[in-house]
Amino acid sequence: AAGAVPVIAVDGPTASGKGTLAAQVAQRLGYHLLDSGALYRATALAAQEAGVSLDDEAGLATLAAGLDLRFADHRVFLGGRDITDPLRLEATGGLASRVSVHPAVRQALHALQLGFRRLPGLVADGRDMGTVIFPEAELKVYLTATARQRAERRQRQLAERGVCAKLDELCADLEQRDRRDQTRAVAPLKPAEDALLLDNSELGIEESVQRVLGWWQQGRPFQ
Ligand code: DC
Repeated sequence: AAGAVPVIAVDGPTASGKGTLAAQVAQRLGYHLLDSGALYRATALAAQEAGVSLDDEAGLATLAAGLDLRFADHRVFLGGRDITDPLRLEATGGLASRVSVHPAVRQALHALQLGFRRLPGLVADGRDMGTVIFPEAELKVYLTATARQRAERRQRQLAERGVCAKLDELCADLEQRDRRDQTRAVAPLKPAEDALLLDNSELGIEESVQRVLGWWQQGRPFQ
């Protein structure tokens, strides 16, 4: 039964370092990884390609329900095509945030997300992993960091890829996306009541990983 498969939920705002943290924790534990943001991003790309408007809830939900997505070797394939690079674009994240406000889209992606829950366990990264998709997760982590710190992190990531971005603009984009994600009617971004808060503003990635692995072991002293 799915109930026997342990889940660690990692939620938080954009550019909080969730993705890296979740991937690292999954790797150390040998667990599967769900990057739920990728599903919203892929839906946004599919919509762009099909010429479906970001306001067309029913059209978007149909696309989401029919997504032919595959994850392999750290790449993502949509209908057999490698979409890893466009998927990661800042602009795609913004489109995904707009797509994700529609309840029918969230509903269409719900079952797909549950399917990632397989033995020996799952680390699920997103906005509503602990609140909506896996409310019974054994460990829920909610990452925080100020918009300024997240913008600086994003700026460094972009610089590594040779992209120069203005800090003020990045910060404004993040804040706009946070606001949309936090105020939408369905499954808004917020910590689950039983989530453990992790402010990683001052923590390196390895320290954050160790913190989460420590929580995980504390909660499972006999394993
Ligand atoms: O984590 P990310 O940047 O890849 O997510 C892109 C957008 O997708 C995010 O701004 C809101 C939406 N999203 C969501 O609504 N629920 C999730 N579980 C994950 C992402």
